[in-house]
Amino acid sequence: MEPPVKLLNRVQLPRHIAIIMDGNGRWAKNRFLPRTAGHHAGVSSVRKAIEYCGSIGVEALTLFAFSSENWRRPQQEVSVLMGLFLATLERETEKLHQKNVRIRIIGDRTAFASELQDKITSAESLTLANTGLNVTIAANYGGRWEITEAVRRVAKLVAEGKIGPDAITTEVFASNLNLSDIPEPDLFIRTGGEKRISNFLLWQLAYTELYFTDTLWPDFDEAELEVAIRDYSGRQRRFGYTGEQVENLFVNPGLL
Ligand code: IPE
Ligand code: IPE
Ligand code: MG
Repeated sequence: MEPPVKLLNRVQLPRHIAIIMDGNGRWAKNRFLPRTAGHHAGVSSVRKAIEYCGSIGVEALTLFAFSSENWRRPQQEVSVLMGLFLATLERETEKLHQKNVRIRIIGDRTAFASELQDKITSAESLTLANTGLNVTIAANYGGRWEITEAVRRVAKLVAEGKIGPDAITTEVFASNLNLSDIPEPDLFIRTGGEKRISNFLLWQLAYTELYFTDTLWPDFDEAELEVAIRDYSGRQRRFGYTGEQVENLFVNPGLL
């Protein structure tokens, strides 16, 4: 078998991959372990995904780690997740910095312990100027929260007389969302078998190709990621055009 990098040279590579890392609890349950063992095991899949995406030339990887609804879980599980987030940032930030990775966290960080908030800020500032893979961790994140925040920002601009209501275009609005400096996700992956978005990047996923797999997150490795990318590369993205128009666009890109 050829090495994956060589194989992937021949497929259309997504610039931005967004993943809902789901199935940790069930992975642990299948092994008669506590749910939190699944979260620990999931960290190595995060490492694999980051390394693989960096090695094949994907520009951005956004990972859903903790939703604004996940506070509803048992307090003990929440606190393990917070501890794991902190420990992983402490352990991995320098290594990722060496690999030219830019780290960002999206979500309402004000709910986190101040130690975690500080670690987040220092990881972001250390890697701010890095030009390699853009890794974004969505933590205490919700798509509706993000859109509401953007609405608030735009409303302030209007209230301060900086822009008129008629100047609020799709582009102006989107520029007030997180990640407005990187392309919207091309490929969305959800592991763990559920077929829903669970309040992830609601705005940004408008034209993203969706891929669902039953594989549980701790079992999701480079080979699984490659299967997802190959699946993506076989799809025709039409953005409202007809299939024929899109095919002609390949022959004559100036047509549309
Ligand atoms: C995803 O795995 C991790 C988080 C939501 C933090 P789950 O913990 O949701 O795993 P399942 O869905 O219960 O198996
Ligand atoms: C979504 O997973 C959030 C993360 C993976 C962090 P959940 O397991 O919380 O989603 P639901 O509750 O099944 O929709
Ligand atoms: Mg789940």
